[in-house]
Amino acid sequence: SKRYTITLLPGDGIGPEVISVATNVLKLAGSLEGIEFKFQEMPVGGAALDLTGVPLPEETLSAANKSDAVLLGAIGGYKWDKNEKHLKPETGLLQLRAGLKVFANLRPATVLPQLVDASTLKKEVAVGVDLMVVRELTGGIYFGEPRGFSTNENGEEIGFNTEVYATHEIDRIARVAFETARKRHGKLCSVDKANVLEASILWRKRVTAIASEYPDVELSHMYVDNAAMQLVRNPKQFDTIVTNNIFGDILSDEASMITGSIGMLPSASLGESGPGLFEPIHGSAPDIARQDKANPLATVLSAAMLLKYGLGEENAAKRIETAVLDTLSRGYRTGDIYSDGNKLVGCKEMGEEVLKSVDSQVPSP
Ligand code: NAD
Ligand code: IPM
Ligand code: MN
Repeated sequence: SKRYTITLLPGDGIGPEVISVATNVLKLAGSLEGIEFKFQEMPVGGAALDLTGVPLPEETLSAANKSDAVLLGAIGGYKWDKNEKHLKPETGLLQLRAGLKVFANLRPATVLPQLVDASTLKKEVAVGVDLMVVRELTGGIYFGEPRGFSTNENGEEIGFNTEVYATHEIDRIARVAFETARKRHGKLCSVDKANVLEASILWRKRVTAIASEYPDVELSHMYVDNAAMQLVRNPKQFDTIVTNNIFGDILSDEASMITGSIGMLPSASLGESGPGLFEPIHGSAPDIARQDKANPLATVLSAAMLLKYGLGEENAAKRIETAVLDTLSRGYRTGDIYSDGNKLVGCKEMGEEVLKSVDSQVPSP
């Protein structure tokens, strides 16, 4: 049977709750496909700070780099919010993404027929939405230098960051986006702020240049402010969106709400080679942590992306996706996606119901 080593990074807040559910689902779906997992749990974020004094211990990064794939819950919390920059949980996550060189972050947003009522948009606007945000993940203003605090000529305190993209960074994310669009509906919308920002002018120039390698994909460009508006006006116009690190962060949270809840949205972060990083797009949700209220489905679906994009185990991935749909069809809902007539459950019970759905599937021969 096939064996894979998976690094589990539960992190903070609801992270451990959703990772526990997703791990059990991964185990069961894998076993039905003859896959065995070795899980190694490592600290990251606030949990790592409390344990080791840093948000990404070397042992965590090296274990992650040596494994076949990495599944992360979430990081962050009030306790560490006032820490110095290099001692913030968020810095650990950025170091992890950079350390794994996972520059391409795929964030799919699909309105499931079962969850149309959970969308805040009108039914006719929401039904049929199926888009993919391809977010650049290891560059841009998150990593650009110079950055820091200083004083200006008036002696006033200033904080500053740099939005910077090199040609090779744009070219490689553009290629991932064109490949992604090619496998979907052949439409790619590049989102930037080329009317104001030099980094965006280069972005648009390079995306346009790379387009000549993909004559079968229809490329369009949109300014980010318009894109934010179009996403709630008519989200169905989008197939694949490619954008920089910070715009992708914001637009994917916006897209998540079209689908009903941020608690539903998974992601895959991939590099040229080496293990991928798989995580829900939501954060540690400190407001509901340790109350068994979190929706684990974003992490469960991230585990499906791990199987598909990280390990090439499409059949096992399908099992998880099918089980999630089946669980929703059977009426189970956590609080964030609950509407009248459904069965309100907590994180654990949702996990148990997904396991039942996987368990009811026929094992492959
Ligand atoms: P958040 O995503 O944690 O929460 C926003 C809102 O959505 C909250 O009301 C929360 O309860 C709700 N929510 C999020 N996930 C949910 C789920 N699975 N089920 C049900 N409800 C859910 O964003 P925030 O409040 O802005 O940030 C909280 C902390 O998380 C901060 O420290 C932030 O830096 C961190 N963060 C981490 C990640 C990550 O680990 N990838 C992502 C975003 C934010
Ligand atoms: C996300 C988060 C992170 C980001 C933070 C916590 C560093 O918001 O994964 O979307 O901005 O990338
Ligand atoms: Mn975010």
